[in-house]
Amino acid sequence: MTTVDLWTQEFQTNPYPIYSRLRELAPVHRVRGPMGADFWLITRYEDARAALTDPRLSKEPRHTPEWLRRIGAASEGEGPSGKNMLSSDPPDHTRQRRLVSKAFTRGRVEALRPRVQQITDALLDAMAAGDEADLVSAFAVPLPVTVICELLGLPETDRDRLHAWTDALERPTFTEDDVLARKTAATEFRAYVTEQLAEIRAAVDPGLPPEQQPGLLASLIAGAGAGDGLSELELIGMTLLLTIAGHETTVNLIGNGMLALLTHPEQLALLKSDPSLLGPAIEEMLRYDGPVERSTIRVSTEDVEFSGVTIPAGSVVYVSINSADRDSARFPDADRFDITRFAGGGEVGHVAFGHGVHFCLGVPLARLEGQIAFGSLLRRFPDITLAVDPAELGWRGSGDSILRGLTRLPVRL
Ligand code: HEM
Repeated sequence: MTTVDLWTQEFQTNPYPIYSRLRELAPVHRVRGPMGADFWLITRYEDARAALTDPRLSKEPRHTPEWLRRIGAASEGEGPSGKNMLSSDPPDHTRQRRLVSKAFTRGRVEALRPRVQQITDALLDAMAAGDEADLVSAFAVPLPVTVICELLGLPETDRDRLHAWTDALERPTFTEDDVLARKTAATEFRAYVTEQLAEIRAAVDPGLPPEQQPGLLASLIAGAGAGDGLSELELIGMTLLLTIAGHETTVNLIGNGMLALLTHPEQLALLKSDPSLLGPAIEEMLRYDGPVERSTIRVSTEDVEFSGVTIPAGSVVYVSINSADRDSARFPDADRFDITRFAGGGEVGHVAFGHGVHFCLGVPLARLEGQIAFGSLLRRFPDITLAVDPAELGWRGSGDSILRGLTRLPVRL
């Protein structure tokens, strides 16, 4: 077993050759880094699927070790997101997920379609005013953050503040100042959500059934029968989780996916010539350079073995989603970006949305946004090209952040 460093510039820019070596070397690696980070990383596809469904790897914050609690990453334990379904094991998880699923219906997502198209068109109109644009700040960020405000029933005018907070929560921490910045953002964000929930609660119309309340949060509040609803703490945690998970990921889908297309012009040309490939192309973007580089943490409640390596009880375990999805044992020629890979139908099998009980709740919305975003962008700007050398692009994430996404993506329209 090797000890690896995920905090290098090389890793941040292009982790895939490193993951490839790690998968070959051993199924599980020990990772140590700044701020006392000490965790285990699962890199192969079969082990990743097994780990994501293993009940001995717990999500409960009471197992979170001190070093992780101190750093307070958004995605970790009871950190700034508070108690929510992603930091719970069954049966508590099952109860929370059931309640939220009742409000987060396919119907509610489908009803957003015209609005997602409208927001997309307005952003593309604004971009069309110039010859060049930064696709991240002009499109990939404002689209999902506006959509999540719309879905939850939060004021759209707050979208810049919301994004600033979620961005701060997902930044890696290397110094005490980084930790402080993250904690400050968490406190402000939580205070904002608490205030918003009070306003939404006061505005709930008791004469309307839950599904007709404006916004998912009002539905959740209105639908809470005696003893059956989410506690106030859970409601706050759920709102924070949905705001973070519901947009930072889609930002990265648009950015990483567009970069993959622009650096593979033959695939881009194929997609433009056959728009029916849009759905499979998005699944390939998710597999090839996924928005969530690593799962959120799990902590082993007993010794647990993967491909012959024993992870001792009490260890922090991450599943490398983006490594698993590049495993050639599962995806032939896995380093090739091929938008026809999933065109034959059937199960896609990538783990970009996770696997098991915590499988992403927002998949229908993520796919809807992806389809509208890429479809509209390519129709509107069929000659779009990269305006910089890809080697000059900067990446967010790495270290203790679990997301992978571009800081900017300058394009010529
Ligand atoms: C969970 C990825 C979009 C809400 C997850 C997980 C992954 C993921 C990998 C599992 C994490 C783990 O097990 O540690 C993605 C990707 C997205 C996306 C790649 C976009 C391309 C969304 C959206 C929403 C959302 C739009 C909501 C509006 C959630 C929730 C969970 C989750 C609530 C926790 C589910 C549970 O614990 O049962 N997502 N997500 N996600 N996601 Fe997403």
